[in-house]
Amino acid sequence: KKKITIAIDGFSSTGKSTIAKEIAKSLGYVYVDTGAMYRAVTLFAMNSGMVSPELTNSLGLIKLLPQVKLQFKFNEEKGAADMYLNDINVEDKIRTLEVSNLVSVVAAIPEVRYKLVEQQREMGKEKGIVMDGRDIGTVVFPDAELKLFMTASAEVRAERRYKELTEKGEAVDFDAVLSNIQQRDHIDSTREDSPLVKAEDAVEIDNSYMSREEQFARILSLVHITL
Ligand code: C5P
Repeated sequence: KKKITIAIDGFSSTGKSTIAKEIAKSLGYVYVDTGAMYRAVTLFAMNSGMVSPELTNSLGLIKLLPQVKLQFKFNEEKGAADMYLNDINVEDKIRTLEVSNLVSVVAAIPEVRYKLVEQQREMGKEKGIVMDGRDIGTVVFPDAELKLFMTASAEVRAERRYKELTEKGEAVDFDAVLSNIQQRDHIDSTREDSPLVKAEDAVEIDNSYMSREEQFARILSLVHITL
């Protein structure tokens, strides 16, 4: 049976990872959340004093990059992979608003991208993979058989993220979440290295008013056309 590469890109909080996970599960494919990798490097940078709201020491971080070991390990209980940074499970730590506020700055550093893209290509060598991020269809796997570009209005996305964070018990206010999303959109789409853009051959899906079931059905039908 033919295995393909599915690249899913789009803005923050468009529900990429939720749908990517479902699609991967139903096809028996591997799912890779590349945002988690950029978040883990950001956590590393914060812990080593190279990034804070006041300062970004890119050169300092670049020097330390060889010390950054990233791994995904499957969590049987959750039925999904957890992110490990230097052998420590950082899955919860990388999802905070604090990390979200700094990640786009770290992700704009070309040396960081180079390191992570190499690792992502390695993970996708055998195909049978669903990878989500910002540059998967444009840079990581420009030859992916199926490329999706997910969008939704900033307000709808902020609602979703706000709900997610409050359900996890993080005290945040809606405006802070909305402004984080808008700021990340801006940095991600205007950075010089691998900006977030829709690949020419990507199918755009605006899911502002689509249920998960509708998205799932739409994407699965695209997969079957591709196979
Ligand atoms: O997908 P998620 O929102 O977790 O990604 C966090 C951040 O990581 C993005 O806002 C972006 O700055 C960066 N990122 C990236 N390229 C990717 C995945 C994520 O630059 N492939």
